[in-house]
Amino acid sequence: MQDPNLLVGSSTSDDAAVYRLNEELAMVQTVDYFTPMVDDPYSFGLITAANALSDIYAMGAKPVLALNIVGFPINELPLEDLVAILQGGADKVKEAGAVIAGGHTIVDNEPKYGLAVTGLVHPDRVITNAGARPGDVLVLTKPLGTGIIATAIKGGLADEAARADALEVMITLNDRASRVMSEMGVKACTDITGFGLLGHLYEMVAASGAGSRIYLEKVPLLNQVRTLAEIGMVPAGAYRNLEYLEQWLRWDSNLDDLDKLILADPQTSGGLLIAVPGEKAGYFIEALLAAGVDGAQIGEVIESGEPLIYICK
Ligand code: CO
Ligand code: CO
Ligand code: CO
Repeated sequence: MQDPNLLVGSSTSDDAAVYRLNEELAMVQTVDYFTPMVDDPYSFGLITAANALSDIYAMGAKPVLALNIVGFPINELPLEDLVAILQGGADKVKEAGAVIAGGHTIVDNEPKYGLAVTGLVHPDRVITNAGARPGDVLVLTKPLGTGIIATAIKGGLADEAARADALEVMITLNDRASRVMSEMGVKACTDITGFGLLGHLYEMVAASGAGSRIYLEKVPLLNQVRTLAEIGMVPAGAYRNLEYLEQWLRWDSNLDDLDKLILADPQTSGGLLIAVPGEKAGYFIEALLAAGVDGAQIGEVIESGEPLIYICK
C-alpha cells in the first residue's frame, strides 16, 4: 500500500517527488546528473545546478538543501577542473538561496556532475503535471534550441554569440517564474529538459487527462537555431523524441521536418511550461515581465482527444 503522505510519486512523470511532513509542510526531492555539455568546467557546474534546481521550482517549491554527486577521472584530468565544476555548482545553489551540505565523489572514466536537491512547499500549493485543464493557456519562459546549439558547438559551427546566448539561457534559474506562479495559484507546470517541449507537454496533458494545441510561430527560439538546424546540427535525441511521440502528435500540413525537430529538441536547463487559467493569462504574463521573465503564450489546453497535441503554424 502506498504511503498517503507521498503526494507525488513516479506515476505522473512529474519533475520531483513530494512527501507531506505535516499539515503545513511538504518536502520535494529530485536528483539529476550529467556528463559535460560544455567545455568550460565552471559553466558545466553552473548549468548542472540550475538544471537540478529547476525540478524543485517546477513543483512550485523553494530549494533549501543540495548534495553533490560527482564522478571524476582523477588520473586523467587536472584537479582544478573538478574544483571549478564544484565552484560553479556552489555558486548557483547559493544564488538560489539554498546550501550544499556535502555529497559523494567516485573515480570515473568520464566526468559526471549532478545534485540531489530538497525543497519545501505548502502541501496545498504543490504544482504538478496533472493540474492542466481545458481553457488554460500554455506559457513558456525560456526560448528553445540549447540542444541544437550544443550540437553546433561540438561541430565547431556555433559562433560566439550563439554560444553566449545558449549559456545565458541554461544558467538562468527558474526561480522568478516559479515565485510568480506560486503567488498566482497556478496548478500545472513542468520544466523543459531532455524530452523537449513536445515530450514534456505530452507528459503534462497525459497526466491531466487533457489535450493541447500549440502554435509554432509563437514558440520562442534562440537566435540562429533554425539556421543551425538547416545545416544538420540536430542532436540524435530530437529524432528519438519525435519517434517516440509521433503517435500523440498531429501536424498542420504546412509544417516541415525541421519545425518538428526543433520542437522536439532536447533542452538542458530549459524554461518552465506553465498552464494558466485563460482569464488570468494576460495578468500572469505581465507579472512574469515585472519579475524579469519573458513568458511566451504558445498555445492552449483543450479537451482530451486523439492525438493529444495539435501543432499549427
Ligand atoms: Co524536470
Ligand atoms: Co530532472
Ligand atoms: Co512537476
